[in-house]
Amino acid sequence: MARILAIGTATLDLIFTLTRYPAEDAELRARGLRTSPGGNAANTLVVLSQLGHACALGGVLPDGPEAAPIIECLARHGIDLAVCRRVPGRPPTSCVLLSLEEGTRTIVHYRDLPEYGHEEFHQIDLTRFDWVHFEGRDGPETARMVHRIRDASPGPLCSVEVEKPRSGIEAVFAGAGMLIFSRAYANHLGFDAPRPFLLRMREQAPQADLIVTWGKEGAYGLTYPGEVQYSPAFPPIKAQDTLGAGDTFNAGLIDAYLKGLGLADALSHACRLAGQKCGQIGLEGLKGR
Ligand code: ADP
Ligand code: FRU
Repeated sequence: MARILAIGTATLDLIFTLTRYPAEDAELRARGLRTSPGGNAANTLVVLSQLGHACALGGVLPDGPEAAPIIECLARHGIDLAVCRRVPGRPPTSCVLLSLEEGTRTIVHYRDLPEYGHEEFHQIDLTRFDWVHFEGRDGPETARMVHRIRDASPGPLCSVEVEKPRSGIEAVFAGAGMLIFSRAYANHLGFDAPRPFLLRMREQAPQADLIVTWGKEGAYGLTYPGEVQYSPAFPPIKAQDTLGAGDTFNAGLIDAYLKGLGLADALSHACRLAGQKCGQIGLEGLKGR
């Protein structure tokens, strides 16, 4: 069991299941509706806690009643919220349209909370953690937090998820031990293939293991010595719910590294877990096989 801190968001997800994705201005009835806690960091921790790790979240939590289901779920998974910052307000909320026909999840997200930043992070005793994972959000703030870890000696291991092209996010590249990119980020930089993208990222992050997820195709990684590794996805018999596949993948990857697996095996471990997630509704009961 390792001690893992994730910095990022916890959200309220309103998840509508639809036979197919609607046309604009359509009116249709959903097949199902459920509400669930979400957010990349919270989702990753919910999975890691089920894999047996001791987890803590560093994020901004609203203190109003709408946040109660989020806090209850995280507490049920034993996720420590002591370093969260509490503010008045309502939780970041996502309207998620899950299309059964396409197996896609379309997310409309709203938040008006401040970001968790270095001001809160510098008060955390880093010796309490073996691994710190960041949802790369505010670029300069994330970079300051990552650099604090880089300068700590001995410090925890550090991973950063770079999912969206956020202003100044490149500043984190030189500090993290592991960078997990999304296909959307690679596409945004003009890459439509993983290999050249990873090689370009290597120029800015010579010290890191680099990973890029490629949706249904699986995931690619570039080891420190420069070898490209690949794992195919492990599609379930029927995709039920792909919401949080990436967050589950990140949990699988961190778990694999903590178990001492190399990058090739870690990619496979993470893709397997993400595939298992796609075959079930939500994240409850994900334990790997
Ligand atoms: P997200 O959009 O949730 O961030 P990605 O699309 O980047 O997630 O996928 C992350 C990982 O999840 C992929 O590398 C793959 O292993 C797995 N995955 C995603 N979609 C599927 C699917 N339909 N079937 C099986 N595995 C999937
Ligand atoms: C899935 C997710 C959802 C959340 C959204 C935030 O990866 O974390 O749970 O609503 O992304 O962008």
